[in-house]
Order: sequence, then structure tokens, then C-alpha cells
Amino acid sequence: MERLQKVLAQAGVASRRKSETLIVAGKVKVNGVVVTELGTKVSSSDRVEVEGVQLVKETYVYFLLYKPRGIISTVDDEKGRKTVLDLFPQIEQRIFPVGRLDYDTSGVIIMTNDGDFSYLMTHPKFGIKKKYIAKVKGIPGREALRKLETGIDLEDGRTAPAHVKMQSVDKKSESALIEITIHEGKNRQVRRMFDAIGCPVQKLRRESFGNVTTHGLNAGDARELTKHEVKQLRVLAETGKIG
Ligand code: URA
Repeated sequence: MERLQKVLAQAGVASRRKSETLIVAGKVKVNGVVVTELGTKVSSSDRVEVEGVQLVKETYVYFLLYKPRGIISTVDDEKGRKTVLDLFPQIEQRIFPVGRLDYDTSGVIIMTNDGDFSYLMTHPKFGIKKKYIAKVKGIPGREALRKLETGIDLEDGRTAPAHVKMQSVDKKSESALIEITIHEGKNRQVRRMFDAIGCPVQKLRRESFGNVTTHGLNAGDARELTKHEVKQLRVLAETGKIG
């Protein structure tokens, strides 16, 4: 579900501000009924008309981007830094990233213009799993790893149970490579979880998002998701499993 003014703006009717004016002025109908409430939410199955003309729906597109480090995962940046959108110079649709990755995190990020799909992928209640590989300073012991698994008290709440696996340890540089799978998306969650056990993250990569991985791509590459992959992701969100 998306706010009506956002849907109008995305369909190219007008800017979001101008779209709000159109709504308040009673020029917009949803399923044949005039709507003047700005908070109204609509889904892709609702019929929206502006001044008697039905909105033309954009074709939905879905991409998998292997985000490199040093790029911001928003559609614009007030500091003028390079964004994930700059990696899609040819795309006509107004795509946006599904969720976020930090500036310094690399890995899988999905880009789409389908707001309902984005909601399914990001709301923690749908439980899409994201697997990260973290290189951390220090070598966490069993007790610390157990804490990551069972839940860490962060200032914005306790983290849900996670799956954690030690991949390798480098005693010389006092660092470790750890795989961690979570289904929430709190801001800088993985970094804050490792901070809490005294092993700050030095490098972070998201290896997979649901059933899709960076496999076969180099940082900076993108490919269209297949219809099957998109369907699988929806099934994962709706049922918690594939097949
Ligand atoms: N957790 C983080 O700390 N950073 C990310 O980019 C993603 C998850």
C-alpha cells in the first residue's frame, strides 16, 4: 500500500506537493469515489483517476544490484554523493532501492518501482532473511556468538534471534570472518550488534537477500531478476518458505 500522493507522483502526474493539492481540491477518485484525505493509502489493484483520467500504471521492473562500497542507497543525496541510481543510467522507470545498505556496506540490494513488493520485502513481519558476511576486529568467543544468536539489547529494542556461523579466524591480525543471518532491518543493525559484543565490523557484505545472491556478479554489476525469482521472493514473504 502506498500513499495516494506518492502514487500520483510516481505515475508522473505531478510532484508530490502538487499531487497533494490535486487531492485536497477533490480532483482525484479512487475506485470511483472522490478522495480528499491526504493519508489515504491505495494498492496496485485500486483504480485511481485524476480529473477523470485513469492513471497509466508503469510496468514493474525488478533488478538485483551488487552494491559496491562508497555509494549511498537512496535515490538522491543532498551532499551530492554517488547513489545506487547512478548505476542505472538507462532506466526509464522510477526505481528505488528496497531497504538500505550503509555507504560502506557492499552486496545485494534489490531495485524496483513496485512499492507493494518493496513493503513485502522489508517489513520484518514477512521475515525475509538477509545473510551478511562480517569481518570483525577481535575474535568473539562462544558466549559472545550466543548473544548475537539469542538477541542483543539495542537502544531501539532487542534484536530477534539470528543465525550465526564463524567462517574463519585470523589470529595474526586478531580478526574473524562471521556469517550472520537476520530478518529485521534496524538501522546499522549488524554493525551495532557486533559493537555490542566488543568486536566492531571492519568490512560488511550482504551475500543474500531471500533466495537471491551476488553469485556471478562483480561489485557495481546489476541484472534483472527473473520472473521466477520475483515470484519466489513473494512466496518467501507470504509463506516463509519456497516449495
Ligand atoms: N546492517 C548494517 O549494520 N549495515 C548494513 O548496511 C546492513 C545491515
